[in-house]
Amino acid sequence: MRKKIIAGNWKMNMLPNETISFIEELAPLVKDTENEVILCVPYTDLFYALLTVQGTNIKIGAQNMHFEEKGAYTGEISGQMLKSINVEYVIIGHSERRQYYNETDESVNKKVKAAFNVGLKPIVCVGETLEEREANKTVEIITTQTQLALEGLSKEEVENTIIAYEPIWAIGTGKTATSEDANNSIKEIRNKIAEIYGQNTASRVIIQYGGSVKSSNAKELFTTSDIDGGLVGGASLKAEEFSKIINFDK
Ligand code: 13P
Repeated sequence: MRKKIIAGNWKMNMLPNETISFIEELAPLVKDTENEVILCVPYTDLFYALLTVQGTNIKIGAQNMHFEEKGAYTGEISGQMLKSINVEYVIIGHSERRQYYNETDESVNKKVKAAFNVGLKPIVCVGETLEEREANKTVEIITTQTQLALEGLSKEEVENTIIAYEPIWAIGTGKTATSEDANNSIKEIRNKIAEIYGQNTASRVIIQYGGSVKSSNAKELFTTSDIDGGLVGGASLKAEEFSKIINFDK
C-alpha cells in the first residue's frame, strides 16, 4: 500500500513571521495523521520553517533548485545549499517554471539527477495545457514529460521520486479535474513507468494530483485507486483549510 503524501506549494507567498505562525497553527491540527505532510516554502522562509517544524510531523521542501553544484549563476540556489540546512524535498519542473522561466524537460531531468546526488527527494510536476487536452494529447504529453524527467535514473531513484500530475488548466482556476479523469491520467503515468522500469517500481511510485485541490474535493480525489495525495497551491495558505485536506480520511 502506498502512503498518501499531501504537499503544500506556497509559491511566492508568505513572509517569515507568517510562516512561523502558520506552522504553529497547523502542527497540532495534523499531529495524528498517518499521511505525510510537506510544506514547500519560498527560499527566504526555509530556515524559519525548518526551525518551527522541529518536533512535528511536518517536512519541508523548496520550490526549485539549480542543477549545477556551484558557480557563476547569480540568483540561483543549488541542491547542496538546500540539503545543508536540512531541506528534504524540492519541487522540480512546476508548470509555472516551465511557462515563465524556460524550464524544459532537459533541465527538469538535470535537476532531478542533481537532487538525488545530494540526497534531496524531488517532487516532479507534469501536466497538459487546455489546448493540448482539447487536441486529445493529454496522455502523450504527460507520459513523455514523465519519461524525460526520469531518464537515466535507477529504479530505486524512480521509486523515491514523487510525481505531481497537475493539469495546467486546473491550477488556480477553481476547475478541478474530475476524480475519475485525474485517476485515469495518473494510471497512464504509472503504466509508462511500468513499461520502462517494471511493474514493481511503478506500483511504488507516489503520484499526486494538483490543481484546485480543496477540503471539499480532497476526499473524492485521494480515495481513488491511483491518486496518492495532492500538491496543493492556494488552499495550502490557510492552516485550517490545509489541515482538512491533510485529514481527508479522518
Ligand atoms: P492551486 O491549488 O492553487 O490550483 O495550485 C496548484 C499548484 O500549482 C500546486 O503546485
